[in-house]
Amino acid sequence: MRPLLAAALATALMPLPLRAGPVEDGRAVWLDACASCHGPAARGDGPMAEILAMPVPDLTGLTAANGGSFPWLRVVHLVDGRSGLRGHGGPMPIFGALMRGDAVAADAPDGTPVITSARVLAVVAWLESVQER
Ligand code: HEC
Repeated sequence: MRPLLAAALATALMPLPLRAGPVEDGRAVWLDACASCHGPAARGDGPMAEILAMPVPDLTGLTAANGGSFPWLRVVHLVDGRSGLRGHGGPMPIFGALMRGDAVAADAPDGTPVITSARVLAVVAWLESVQER
């Protein structure tokens, strides 16, 4: 393998450098990519919510709705575009491109290996941190 390609691959598969920590990084991604619809605190009250044809859900109850455990794998797949909810579906989720390009490997709580992007992992960590218990 050519050294440049090898270096690029090694960088791509490296875990997100812990600058502020995943939850803080995830908050930034959230405000950037999600808050316009879901609201700054994930309550479903972003400015775009009014003009969407379908209601934007309050996402602070995902843990409660899932019997007390955060549905991590489902949310990761939703955000990185591998499961097509309508608001996120259609041709491609609107943030599909935004989340591409910084691949990381992670383990789901049940041990399932997952390749996704560092930004997806971060934003899901933030979302988990705002769940109401
Ligand atoms: C354009 C508006 C919009 C943006 C931007 C948006 N969402 Fe959503 N989201 C929705 C709507 C509408 C739904 C309702 C479900 C559907 O798609 O039918 C939803 C559903 C969800 C759900 C599923 C809730 C459930 O109970 O299954 C999750 C999780 C979610 N969004 C996370 C995010 C994250 C994380 C981001 C940012 C990366 C984001 N959303 C950006 C509109 C948006």
